[in-house]
Formats: sequence, structure tokens, C-alpha cells
Amino acid sequence: MTSTAERRPELLAAVDRAAGRLEGRLRRTPLLWSPALGEALGFELGLKLENLQTTGSFKARPALNSVLAALERGPVPGFVTSSSGNFGIAAAWAARGVGLPLKLVMMPSASTHKTRVAEALGAEILRCADDYAAREERVRALIEKKGRLPLHPHDGEDSIAGDATLGLELAREVPETATIMVPASGAGLVAGVALGLDRAGHPARVQACQPAGNGSLARSLAEGRRLCSNRVRTIADGLSAAVPGKLGFELVREFGIGVTEVAEDSIRRALRLLVKEERLMVEPAAAVPLAALLEGRFRPAGPVILVLSGANIAPEDFAGLVRS
Ligand SMILES: Cc1ncc(COP(=O)(O)O)c(C=O)c1O
Repeated sequence: MTSTAERRPELLAAVDRAAGRLEGRLRRTPLLWSPALGEALGFELGLKLENLQTTGSFKARPALNSVLAALERGPVPGFVTSSSGNFGIAAAWAARGVGLPLKLVMMPSASTHKTRVAEALGAEILRCADDYAAREERVRALIEKKGRLPLHPHDGEDSIAGDATLGLELAREVPETATIMVPASGAGLVAGVALGLDRAGHPARVQACQPAGNGSLARSLAEGRRLCSNRVRTIADGLSAAVPGKLGFELVREFGIGVTEVAEDSIRRALRLLVKEERLMVEPAAAVPLAALLEGRFRPAGPVILVLSGANIAPEDFAGLVRS
């Protein structure tokens, strides 16, 4: 099989450019080794704290890279994107940082907390019907009629190269024998982490984790083509993309990444355990890899690194989830 460098030289160049652009503009998040959780689960266990990233999630990486890359290509009147929340927050922050407006199309079912945070960062929120086709149609209209430049929440070269900077960072921090478990929805993050590791020549294995309430990536991989979930139901609101992105899905297949699906109850247990053992409050999406370990069906050999991908949740919503 040919290497990624031979197959996709342009994508690896995009990863290098993203690393240069984001250098010094985002937090280098800590990798926290957790003997307490590790002993409970029987692994050497590390937590990559992207919950502490600027804007409260890893999405600052793809959002800032996409905004800066767009400006390098020419003048931009303003941006438009759609998001279930974290990308909207990150895109609002990135657009504000360069003094440009952002229109953010959101479904009514999006988290109220995330919507408010994005609005407070200057995004103009536009509502659409509660379905993905309607949301994309609204974005298309804003591109065509208002000349807004689209920012993709999880797919395309700029977005995934931004995600890949997390893989580059992990390559400097984790043992070669590690397995890195990553929450997946549109598949940008998991593909990006694998791409960054590959760029750094690091052999760590990557595993995607998804709530069974949105098995879009798992079903798509099983079928060998991108399938759209017609019913997404999960407390992990950050993992609600109904279909994996095109480039992300291709990369997941090329890198041979597997997916573990988890039950809602396990996500709640994982949230509780993170508070109890490490005093970490994360949003449900970020607890999905720990939930997968708790269920015990995926048992990697060697050290395990869990990507805690975000923490954008209202304290009262969090309290409700860990109490239930
Ligand atoms: C907190 C969190 N974790 C993980 C993901 C998954 O990222 P992706 O859609 O690139 O798979 C998201 C997506 O929005 C998210 O908000």
C-alpha cells in the first residue's frame, strides 16, 4: 500500500501550513496521566485535555485554521457556517479575532448554552427547521445570495488540517505503543488526529468512539459508503452529525480506523467517573471514549489516551446528567 505522503501530498502540506498558522495562537493542552482511572480500568491511561482549549473545545483548531487560510486566499466579506454548537462557538471566536462577521445556522434542537455562547462571541444566529437538509440549504442560500464564505464544521482540507494539529501535538507526547481514543461525529477530528500522527511518523493506533444513538460513522464503515442517520438521539449533543464528512470518511477508511459504539448510560457513568476521580467537568461528547472503555468491548493493548474534546455545557445541565 502507498503511504499517505504519496497518496495525498497536498493534504500533508496543508497540515504543515496549519501547524505554522496556529503556532502560538492556541493553547498547548496538557496530557494528564491518571493512575486513579487507569487502575480502575486496568490500563495506563492518559487524558488529553482539549476541554481546556480556547473556546472550550478542540474546534478552535479547525475554525481558526479555516478562517486564516481563507484570508490568505483573498478578501472575505464574512463567513457562514452551520453547527450543533462547538464549531459555531469556535468560528465566532475566530471570525471576531480577524474582525469579520459570522452567520451561524442552527437547528432549534441545538444546545441553548452553546447557542448563547456563540451569540455572545458575536455570531448572528439564524434558525432553520430541525433537519440537516434544511440546515445545509440555508447555508447554501447565504453563500449564493450574500457572498458569505462557508466554514465547514468537520470536513474539507482546512478543517481537517486544523484537527491534525492535535495529532501532531499528541505525537510529541504519547508512547509509540499507545492507542488514542477519539469521539467521532462528522469524522473530522478522528481523521485529523490520525493524519497528524501519520505526518509525524508516529505509529500510535487511533480508535473512533460514537454513541449508539448516532451510529452514522459505524454504519457507514460497515456499508463502505457514507450513510445518513435518519434518527440521531443522544445526550452527547456534540456528536450529532447525521453523516460523516467526505474527506474524513475517506481518511478513516485509508487509516483503517475502527469504531466503538456506546450506550447512553455508559456516557453518564463516564461523566461521573471523570468528576469523581479527576475532578474534570466535560461535556457528554468528550466522555464517550471513557464510556467505550467502561463497556469493555474494546480492550487495546498498551497505554490508552482519551481525547477529552470539549467542555461546553451549562453547569446546571451537567449536574442534571450526573445526578440522573
Ligand atoms: C466536543 C466534541 N467532541 C467531538 C466532536 C466530533 O468531531 P467531528 O465532528 O469532527 O467528528 C465534536 C463535534 O462537534 C464535539 O463538539
